[in-house]
Amino acid sequence: MGFFHLALFVFLVSPPLSLVMSKDIEHGSLIVDGARSVADTDDNFICATIDWWPQDKCDYNNCPWGNTSIINLDLSQPLLTKAIQGLKPLRIRIGGSLQDQVLYEVGNLKSPCQQFQKKNGGLFGFSKGCLQMKRWDELNQFFNKTGAIVTFGLNALNGRRKTKRAAWVGDWDITNAHDFISYTISKGYQIDSWEFGNELSGKGIGANVGAAQYGKDLIKLKQILNTMYHNYKFKPSLIAPGGFYDKNWFDKLLQVTGSGVLNALTHHIYNLGPGSDVNLDSKILDPERLSNVESVFSSMSETIKKYGPWSAAWVGEAGGAYNSGGRDISDTFVNSFWYLDELGIASKYNTKVYCRQSLIGGNYGLLNTTTFSPNPDYYRQV
Ligand SMILES: *[C@@H]1O[C@H](CO)[C@@H](O)[C@H](O)[C@H]1NC(C)=O
Ligand SMILES: *[C@@H]1O[C@H](CO)[C@@H](O)[C@H](O)[C@H]1NC(C)=O
Ligand SMILES: *[C@@H]1O[C@H](CO)[C@@H](O)[C@H](O)[C@H]1NC(C)=O
Repeated sequence: MGFFHLALFVFLVSPPLSLVMSKDIEHGSLIVDGARSVADTDDNFICATIDWWPQDKCDYNNCPWGNTSIINLDLSQPLLTKAIQGLKPLRIRIGGSLQDQVLYEVGNLKSPCQQFQKKNGGLFGFSKGCLQMKRWDELNQFFNKTGAIVTFGLNALNGRRKTKRAAWVGDWDITNAHDFISYTISKGYQIDSWEFGNELSGKGIGANVGAAQYGKDLIKLKQILNTMYHNYKFKPSLIAPGGFYDKNWFDKLLQVTGSGVLNALTHHIYNLGPGSDVNLDSKILDPERLSNVESVFSSMSETIKKYGPWSAAWVGEAGGAYNSGGRDISDTFVNSFWYLDELGIASKYNTKVYCRQSLIGGNYGLLNTTTFSPNPDYYRQV
């Protein structure tokens, strides 16, 4: 409304300016063929993430995570509960950069269950962290109460060794994950999908693992899930790799795992560049720039068609601008132009699920980090 009033005002009092403005207006027609569908999404297409980042995760001298980590998010906040219930059912993907350094306090865990600490030389500058089962119980009670559909990202680096640069080698040690899943089943907690690893595909972000090794570990994980869930009616999906699309790596992963292992291929998208960009808002308002991401979706769908028609494409994490999003941009109305456009592109390419980074935390939360009140993008999916 404000814009139209302003435009009219300018038009009346200042003809030269109105000429400039009218140049930007083009008329067109939009024809919607409501009888044919282009693609199908999953019934639970909308998804948001909860990350592991602690309070002292900072980018560009800004520390926007507060107490929104899966470890310490205040689950008793009425606004948080209502926001999730309002999108019922909302898919929640638990994961993020520190996921591959999380230990679970269960079974024969040898090391003490400690929180993430800043650590020089640590992956992403942090030590290993740990999820206590008491917290896992609280989280599941919360998910049950809010009707959330849960995807949990497992630590896929456990037992591997770091070699030169970012490459990690050796077999995955499944013990701790096995005990954790087994505990989860024994408590009757419903996990919709288990995801394996975060951003370890291709060159990786911080760390990478070869596709052949990754595939071998996924086959093992699938066998163990099949055994553990043998007597249960509901079988959770196995999804991976939760990383950036790299054609050779993704093609190979599907070839190595073969049919019946991966239910979905998850990929991450941050197509707006760094959160520090002072021109972030104009990037968001540039339709051509937004459409560049179509090549990723298109190539991803080719990969699935050719090597793994049994699996689906999911966007496992997308926040627009990386490194915690853009301050005073990613949590404001202008960000919706990126978000809605990308939801549309993703669904056009048969993406079944799209997880927004984040439900809360960073500058791109659907909810405000400290007040828990909904930001404009929250309303884009109501
Ligand atoms: C996070 O929680 C701690 C401990 O309860 C508190 O001291 C701190 O102020 C909180 N931080 C934010 C940003 O709310
Ligand atoms: C919540 O837990 C109860 C008891 O285990 C179960 O019957 C119900 O299906 C759960 N609801 C959801 C939404 O997971
Ligand atoms: C959260 O809300 C407070 C108070 O309105 C505001 O000052 C702050 O910038 C918001 N934080 C984020 C990350 O959106």
